[in-house]
Amino acid sequence: MTGATILHLITMAVLISAAASQAPPTKYINHTVGDSAGWFFNSTTNTTATNYSSWAGSQTFSLGDYLIFKTSSNQTVIQTYNLTTFRNCSIDDSSSNDTFVYNGGNTVFDQALTIIVPLTIQGPNYFFSDASDGIQCQHGLAFEINVNRGLGLPPSLNQPPPPTYREPPGPDSASPPVTIPAGEEGTGNSGFKKGASVQVIACVCLFALLAVIGGDRGGIF
Ligand SMILES: *[C@@H]1O[C@H](CO)[C@@H](O)[C@H](O)[C@H]1NC(C)=O
Ligand SMILES: *[C@@H]1O[C@H](CO)[C@@H](O)[C@H](O)[C@H]1NC(C)=O
Ligand SMILES: *[C@@H]1O[C@H](CO)[C@@H](O)[C@H](O)[C@H]1NC(C)=O
Ligand SMILES: *[C@@H]1O[C@H](CO)[C@@H](O)[C@H](O)[C@H]1NC(C)=O
Ligand SMILES: *[C@@H]1O[C@H](CO)[C@@H](O)[C@H](O)[C@H]1NC(C)=O
Ligand SMILES: *[C@@H]1O[C@H](CO)[C@@H](O)[C@H](O)[C@H]1NC(C)=O
Ligand SMILES: *[C@@H]1O[C@H](CO)[C@@H](O)[C@H](O)[C@H]1NC(C)=O
Ligand SMILES: *[C@@H]1O[C@H](CO)[C@@H](O)[C@H](O)[C@H]1NC(C)=O
Repeated sequence: MTGATILHLITMAVLISAAASQAPPTKYINHTVGDSAGWFFNSTTNTTATNYSSWAGSQTFSLGDYLIFKTSSNQTVIQTYNLTTFRNCSIDDSSSNDTFVYNGGNTVFDQALTIIVPLTIQGPNYFFSDASDGIQCQHGLAFEINVNRGLGLPPSLNQPPPPTYREPPGPDSASPPVTIPAGEEGTGNSGFKKGASVQVIACVCLFALLAVIGGDRGGIF
């Protein structure tokens, strides 16, 4: 009996530790860009508040995670899947289906902003500030990450709201990112370059949803 009890205990211990070690990643993570340094550029010294490449290298990114940019209206947040756009530090000539502006058109400086960007496409994602005609980006306010599959997209992001639609610089002062789906933006069914499957699945889901909802938005395809 004693032997059996010990065996039983050992078995339980093995099972418990196996369960613990095999646990898949169970959480989505919010990554504060630059940690406590935030997303800042000092235009007097042409230096960034921290080394964003190093910061990015210290993190593991997965679908469904968020990037939290603690910044001010002196910087912008551009997300692109296009390496050419990233290297150019400019959204001029970029395509609105692979490049998203989260706080363009600022006319008031030094306003505190928190910009929240969900990671919805697997593979390379690039981020930079295009403020000061690209000088901030050229001096390091830029980084690239690789987004892993992780847990996959959570239901809340399965139909990712398109990021703020790019507006030409205008009288609008700094505004927080809009999370209201803007309809046809971002649902184009032509090929997306990278992480195509996720985006295509999202489009299919959206299509299905629209079909269920019925006539409301009929005709966008
Ligand atoms: C991460 O950020 C998102 C978006 O703001 C928020 O909904 C979520 O609660 C945050 N999660 C954690 C663990 O802070
Ligand atoms: C920029 O750097 C200069 C020189 O180090 C410093 O005096 C100034 O306070 C910095 N500006 C900001 C906004 O941090
Ligand atoms: C910052 O760098 C740009 C070139 O990228 C240069 O034109 C400008 O003079 C520099 N400013 C300072 C304060 O060093
Ligand atoms: C930032 O860190 C990377 C390594 O992570 C290094 O290659 C790069 O030179 C650093 N940049 C600056 C401006 O120090
Ligand atoms: C923000 O930009 C404005 C306009 O270029 C400048 O006057 C101000 O000093 C900047 N603020 C910081 C903290 O760099
Ligand atoms: C690169 O940016 C410049 C402006 O800084 C723009 O004129 C040019 O068209 C861009 N090139 C590409 C390939 O995006
Ligand atoms: C990236 O954007 C440029 C325009 O800036 C475009 O010519 C090029 O085809 C795009 N690359 C991809 C892979 O979509
Ligand atoms: C972006 O849209 C244009 C025009 O609709 C299309 O030609 C291009 O292939 C699209 N690019 C990507 C990366 O989806």
